Amino acid sequence: MKIALLCGGVSPERDISLASGKNVAQALRSKDYEVYVIDPAYGVNQPSEDNLFTFSIKSEAPKSVNRNPLSQRAYIETVNNVIPDDVSAVFIALHGTWGEDGKIQALLDYRGLPYTGSGVLGSALAMDKLISKRIFTGCGILTPPWITVYKNYDLEVIKNEIDRQFGYPAVVKPINQGSTVGMAIIQKENQLDEALTVALRFSDTIIIEMYVPGKEITVSVLGNEPLPIIEIRPKHGYYDYRSKYTAGMTDYIVPAPLDEVLSNNIQDIAIKAFRVLGCQGFGRMDFRLNNADEAYCLEANTIPGLTNTSLVPKAARAVGIEFEDLCDRIVRYAIEK
Ligand SMILES: Nc1ncnc2c1ncn2[C@@H]1O[C@H](COP(=O)(O)OP(=O)(O)O)[C@@H](O)[C@H]1O
Ligand SMILES: [Mg+2]
Repeated sequence: MKIALLCGGVSPERDISLASGKNVAQALRSKDYEVYVIDPAYGVNQPSEDNLFTFSIKSEAPKSVNRNPLSQRAYIETVNNVIPDDVSAVFIALHGTWGEDGKIQALLDYRGLPYTGSGVLGSALAMDKLISKRIFTGCGILTPPWITVYKNYDLEVIKNEIDRQFGYPAVVKPINQGSTVGMAIIQKENQLDEALTVALRFSDTIIIEMYVPGKEITVSVLGNEPLPIIEIRPKHGYYDYRSKYTAGMTDYIVPAPLDEVLSNNIQDIAIKAFRVLGCQGFGRMDFRLNNADEAYCLEANTIPGLTNTSLVPKAARAVGIEFEDLCDRIVRYAIEK
């Protein structure tokens, strides 16, 4: 079977996407798929695979969005002219804007090509942390209380709102980024203005969330079924860009040491959250578990990292699904859909 594998792209998570793409290409080839590796940012001028896969993941998150209208425009050309007619499916290994948010999915729908993971709507809803939280709340899924902030905010009004609702620490995040890009956990009121300014470089709308102390856990989903929960223990600070992508900075415990009833409960919540957003195929739901064992859903990831050491592959391995089989299954769900 022939597969077009999309990776790279123009989002701040480009390098992570290339790492995912490199691993997925290897895995699919070992399963006898013929793989065309394609970077949608290049349109008809595709680099060689060797050139594409010379990248390095920086140890710090990007500080702003690199807006290049030419390269995102190249996605249209890529879908229209670069992906060959004879592929059985498109494997989307793009993270963040333009790849994980439903937009490339829409272009592929126009082409009539099956693709991995969630469709247009599920991708778009999951990418928007604010809309996701509104849906979670409406469906009885616990999510940290939050305040929505728009451009031209009144700092005094927001400060009062934070004091009234949850105080500090508080978490400031852009609504449409992954990998903690543009995010900050602030300890004091005097850090608020700066955190908002940074976050607003990434999205026009920001959320400020109640900080949930306790454990960090994530539930991977494969074909509508939950995989074992992973507990994430960053060695320093919180699970930010550095902890995520620097080897040895974080301990991962799988299955998470939680009692069985609690763990089943959280898996049920994760599946419910995945479904209410309309997600499909595979994904990963992030949670914080407070000291009373209440699981707060933070967000859904519809194209989580797919390197050998990423979270979904770790969870799959815990039930005997090796990375090659995981990629193979993801492709099969796409074709069945
Ligand atoms: N409300 C919160 N309370 C405590 N920690 C949080 C909260 N929101 C986010 N974090 C920390 O920040 C990380 C990234 O937040 P998340 O909402 O998952 O966005 P993304 O992974 O897309 O950047 C989480 O994994 C967690 O470590
Ligand atoms: Mg997350």
